[in-house]
Amino acid sequence: MSKRLIVTGGAGFIGSNLILHLMKRYPEYHIVNLDKLTYASDLSFLDAVKDSPNYRFAQIDIVDRKAVRDLIQEFKPDGIIHLAAESHVDNSISGPEPFFYTNVIGTFNLIEEFRQHWVTNGKPEQYRFHHVSTDEVYGSLGDEGFFMETTPYAPNSPYSASKASSDFVIRSYFHTYHMNVVVTNCSNNYGPHQHDEKLIPTVIRKALNHNKIPVYGKGENIRDWLFVLDHCRAIDAAFHTGKSGEHYNVGGHNEWKNIDLVHLLCRLMNEEVGNGPDGDYANLISFVTDRPGHDLRYAIDPSKIEAELGWQNTQDFMADMRITVQWYVKRYHKG
Ligand SMILES: NC(=O)c1ccc[n+]([C@@H]2O[C@H](COP(=O)([O-])OP(=O)(O)OC[C@H]3O[C@@H](n4cnc5c(N)ncnc54)[C@H](O)[C@@H]3O)[C@@H](O)[C@H]2O)c1
Repeated sequence: MSKRLIVTGGAGFIGSNLILHLMKRYPEYHIVNLDKLTYASDLSFLDAVKDSPNYRFAQIDIVDRKAVRDLIQEFKPDGIIHLAAESHVDNSISGPEPFFYTNVIGTFNLIEEFRQHWVTNGKPEQYRFHHVSTDEVYGSLGDEGFFMETTPYAPNSPYSASKASSDFVIRSYFHTYHMNVVVTNCSNNYGPHQHDEKLIPTVIRKALNHNKIPVYGKGENIRDWLFVLDHCRAIDAAFHTGKSGEHYNVGGHNEWKNIDLVHLLCRLMNEEVGNGPDGDYANLISFVTDRPGHDLRYAIDPSKIEAELGWQNTQDFMADMRITVQWYVKRYHKG
């Protein structure tokens, strides 16, 4: 299908893993990594491909519509996979403004400029816009049930509200302009290349430094964890074979209470590093005041993407979590 791709947010966690995945699987593709390089980015994750003739980096803020237009007109993409976003819920509570500019206005700028490029070129059917979104748009579950593609949107944080809004921008371009679009809504990802601020890197870093490991409330909140490469394969499947105008929920059938996940990380740290206080990193766990509006439980029903696109979560959770712990231990030991 598409041979000239813009991947936005490619210097972030999932975007960098996705670019490495795509370049390996589709060596004939030309990929531009569009990223503003916010505090959350790290281009060194892409050192292995940075000199490839079919890859290049473009430092662009998606809120800058002219810069987006200039890149699209010059590169002439037939596909955009859009991951660039402000992504940290805590930051959206302390400072929501950039979330709405980047996640909503930025998404509008990208799809509108892509629409104009598509119209100029005679509306080629294969031009596709893939919007990477989150399960957080659905709000919070109680003890039972799963998020389905039909679950009504009920975002609770400024982050999830901004992502829900951007999903609706994409929806409107499908219904109004009949553009070829697809949206994936994924659960929490884990794996290498995640920014320090997120839960798993934080636990590992604090543990290594013998600092208190903060856990919100009593750690009762439940998340459905998916290895980042399984998410990348789901994006690959939906981008190439998903039906236009559809959403696909992506999740790991892998629910963990935060406190249980933190205990697991401490156990893996005990095995991989040792040297925890009194022989156990779990002694560093410290409960802190809960985040306002903290959603209790997220859990995805991924049966649509499994049945329609043949995607399967291949993860061996314990093995992939150990790889993840080893990766961060190495990173933080380097300093
Ligand atoms: N991390 C998860 O568990 C998860 C789960 C489901 C969906 N998602 C979605 O996947 C996408 C990627 O998430 P992530 O965890 O890799 O995020 P991240 O914060 O690690 O990376 C985001 C990237 O976007 C870039 N960016 C931010 N603002 C920009 C702007 N104005 N213009 C251009 N680039 C900008 C940053 O520089 C960074 O490189 C996001 O859209 C997020 O909502 C993430």
